[in-house]
Amino acid sequence: MKHILVFASGDGSNFEAIVGHFLDKNVSVELLCDKPNAPVLARAKRLGIKFYIVKFEDTRDFLKNKKYNLFVLAGYMRILPQEVLDLGTFINIHPSLLPYFKGLDAIRRAYDAKVSTTGVSVHYVNNEVDCGKIIAQSGVKIEEKMTFEELENKIHVVEHALYSKVVEGLLK
Ligand code: GRF
Repeated sequence: MKHILVFASGDGSNFEAIVGHFLDKNVSVELLCDKPNAPVLARAKRLGIKFYIVKFEDTRDFLKNKKYNLFVLAGYMRILPQEVLDLGTFINIHPSLLPYFKGLDAIRRAYDAKVSTTGVSVHYVNNEVDCGKIIAQSGVKIEEKMTFEELENKIHVVEHALYSKVVEGLLK
C-alpha cells in the first residue's frame, strides 16, 4: 500500500480527481490544508478522506514523524521552505506550459497574450515558484472564439487526467 498526501487550500477539483482515480488502486490519499475555510475541506468530508488543517509554519513538525511516498501539491499556493522539501518528494501542477506563464493567473495571462497553445505542467517542487524539473506536460489549443471560461474548463479537465496519471507513474 502506497500513501500520498495532497496539499491543497483552494477549490480542490484536482484533489477530488486524484481521490477518484485511486479508489480501487491500493493507494491511500490524505489531505493537508493550511486554510480552515477552504472549499477543498468540504470535498474531503464528502469523500470520507482524512484531512489535516496545518498552519504553514507548522508543516515541518507535522510531517516529521509521518511516512508518505509522495507529496502532491494541488492549489496549495505557498512556497515550502527547503527544510520541508527535504522530507520527501514534492510535485506540483501548474496551468501553463512551463516555463511560460509561471506564477499566479497563468490561464488568464496565456489567454490575454493570445498564444495559440497553452496547457498544463507537472513538475518537481523546489524553492522557486514553478521552476522545478518538469515531469510531464499536456498542451491545450486556444481555439479561435474560445472564451476564457471555456479555456479554463478545458485546462481543468486536462489537469485532472494528467495529474493522476503522473502520480500513479511516480508511485510504481
Ligand atoms: C489548478 O489550476 C492548478 O494547476 C493550480 O491551482 C489550481 C488548483 O485548482 N496549481 P483546484 O483547487 O484543484 O480546483
